[in-house]
Amino acid sequence: MLAMNYRGPKRVRIDQKPMPEIEHPQDAIVRVTRSCICGSDLHLYNGNVPDTRVGTTFGHEFTGVVEEIGSEVTKLKVGDHVLVPFNIACGQCAFCKQELYGNCHEANSQATAVGGIFGYSHTAGGYNGGQAEYARVPYANVGPTVIPQGMDPDDAVLLTDVVPTGYQAAEMAGIQKGDTVIIFGAGPIGIMAAKCSWLFGAGRVIVIDKEDYRLEFARNYSQCEAYNFQEMDDPVVFVKKTTDWMGADVCIDAVGAEAAGNAMQTITGRKLLLQAGSATALHWAINSVKKGGIVSIVGVYGPTDNLVPIGNVVNKGITIRANQASVKRLLPRLIEHVQNGVINPKGLITHRIPLEEVADGYRIFSDKLDNCIKPVLIPPSARM
Ligand SMILES: NC(=O)c1ccc[n+]([C@@H]2O[C@H](COP(=O)([O-])OP(=O)(O)OC[C@H]3O[C@@H](n4cnc5c(N)ncnc54)[C@H](O)[C@@H]3O)[C@@H](O)[C@H]2O)c1
Ligand SMILES: [Zn+2]
Ligand SMILES: [Zn+2]
Repeated sequence: MLAMNYRGPKRVRIDQKPMPEIEHPQDAIVRVTRSCICGSDLHLYNGNVPDTRVGTTFGHEFTGVVEEIGSEVTKLKVGDHVLVPFNIACGQCAFCKQELYGNCHEANSQATAVGGIFGYSHTAGGYNGGQAEYARVPYANVGPTVIPQGMDPDDAVLLTDVVPTGYQAAEMAGIQKGDTVIIFGAGPIGIMAAKCSWLFGAGRVIVIDKEDYRLEFARNYSQCEAYNFQEMDDPVVFVKKTTDWMGADVCIDAVGAEAAGNAMQTITGRKLLLQAGSATALHWAINSVKKGGIVSIVGVYGPTDNLVPIGNVVNKGITIRANQASVKRLLPRLIEHVQNGVINPKGLITHRIPLEEVADGYRIFSDKLDNCIKPVLIPPSARM
């Protein structure tokens, strides 16, 4: 089958790989119909995630048609068209029982932090992902969800990560009626977090990024204010000024380890890898939230230390909430929002790229070319 193949930092290509097989009675094999490239894939692509092995297939946002099921799979049947949450979760462990599907203790055995994730290095369990013609889906009774009748697969594929992650970013922020919410990052996640902040009652939503085309997209898609930090002397002072010097009620970090905007952070976090990515957006979030405010983090960082103003976290009495999105927990509510037209996920898709051209897809998304917001890869069989 055709599959994306990681060859080393900034090098991916399309290759022939063996078909995945049922390895456990609870596995399913799906024929992929859509798979997206995510900002999280860029951390892998840039070589910033430990133990990303050459030969791995990325892709944690995909939909597919069930081709084969193991003997213990009861919730799916061959022919079902499913959306597959990016978290791989057993459904049985202490964490899954609390609906912390991003922290499953079995899918990434005994790991102390993240659970299993499709196509996300051996630090997230070493599973191959869905940027391929076929994928193996473990614990098939738990994650995969049949796409509701009439739902566009382009909407469904964004329910595997982008919509739940943006929604959970806003949910963890504990937004109260009328709150001013600042979102760092106008990628698909930041744009969706902005959209969802209104659902929690925000009074003002401001997105900050450096790509003008993304800021424009955010204004239209999320009906929010959007500003370019490269035009500010200091983003923290900008936020204070626009909130009567109180600071924002809530700040959301939807950037993570690849943040630009501070030379020291960029050099130590992205070039020399002395810390787990550049913590610039997180730094800005902590310093521009009000005293007693909430910082919600969905931007991904590596496991080692970061140079963040932790002293200010303590002195300001800030609540910081962070996690991988728990997709399965949020799906019933989000499917309803999509069906009622409250959220239009496919409106984020700007590029539909044949799977064979996956290397171009990574380059366009990574280098922010051609006004790209969200690329989706379409395998040959899904184009017929
Ligand atoms: N927690 C989760 O479950 C989860 C799920 C999906 C993605 N993520 C993470 O969310 C983050 C965003 O994902 P995405 O797909 O939107 O990525 P993306 O790369 O498309 O977008 C990131 C944006 O941040 C902007 N940016 C860079 N430095 C900035 C700064 N200092 N301040 C403000 N903006 C800055 C970039 O210009 C870019 O537009 C990534 O770190 C990704 O790994 C987390
Ligand atoms: Zn993703
Ligand atoms: Zn579990």
